[in-house]
Amino acid sequence: MNLVEKNETLKLIENRKTIRAYNKKELTQEVIEIIIRGAMRAPTAGNMMMYSILQITDQVIKEKLVKTCDNQPHIAKAPLVLIFLADLQRWWDYFDICKIPELCNDIGKEFQTPQESDLLLASCDALIAAQNAVITAESLGIGSCYIGDIMENYEIHKEMFNLSKWVFPIAMVCFGYPKGDKEKIPLTSRFPQKFIHFENKYQRLNEEELTEMFKNVDRKIVEKNAKNLGQDVYLRKSGADFSKEMRRSVKTALKVWLEGNN
Ligand SMILES: Cc1cc2nc3c(=O)[nH]c(=O)nc-3n(C[C@H](O)[C@H](O)[C@H](O)COP(=O)(O)O)c2cc1C
Repeated sequence: MNLVEKNETLKLIENRKTIRAYNKKELTQEVIEIIIRGAMRAPTAGNMMMYSILQITDQVIKEKLVKTCDNQPHIAKAPLVLIFLADLQRWWDYFDICKIPELCNDIGKEFQTPQESDLLLASCDALIAAQNAVITAESLGIGSCYIGDIMENYEIHKEMFNLSKWVFPIAMVCFGYPKGDKEKIPLTSRFPQKFIHFENKYQRLNEEELTEMFKNVDRKIVEKNAKNLGQDVYLRKSGADFSKEMRRSVKTALKVWLEGNN
């Protein structure tokens, strides 16, 4: 028996798969609390918990999310839907209550409001919490699926969820007990470690290495206009309409985030 085989946590991590089809079994309140607590035990920069977790219980909102998140029907079928918000509103509101602008004025220090770096840091917090929720759920036999498309349609989501200026939905995760036999879903492949894991210095891959990296990838070409894997992934992902919308949406969100900043 190797180290992984002897260790339940490692086995869980190695065998996790994204689950997009859920059976109708509801998650009990106790189970939901355990998942949320798991998220909240995640490491968080400066122990500041720069995130909020929005649980979507309203079926009408779930149906709307199907449409605003690139038409993904499994969102509406998930018994538990959590949106992880990068959130600095809470802290800056508290700073206001604590009279930080006045303090800065008194001691001759510039008072700063959240900027790009704060959004990135809060996003790290929110995503790490999300992944803790995923692993917690997995340990209870509950599958999950991230929905990155929650970053699209910023204006609609802002209105829908009453988001304030310094709150940004960085990820959504659907949870549910897997429908059918989870073992039948193949484990997705990963690139060979040598192209991902470097020592001391970053290594930009050359053509030969990139060709080798993709050589044994078990991805099928789906897009009819694609002649190779790069063309397929570009047309379906990075260059697709949803990515264009995500770029537009995040630009708008960033503009709001930075409005009136000093
Ligand atoms: C940030 C992020 C966003 C994702 N967005 C979606 C999504 O919108 N819809 C979806 O079905 N899966 C989504 N996924 C799941 C990935 O497609 C999945 O993790 C990947 O194909 C690898 O499969 P595995 O998780 O089973 O190993 C997302 C995953 C991550 C980490």
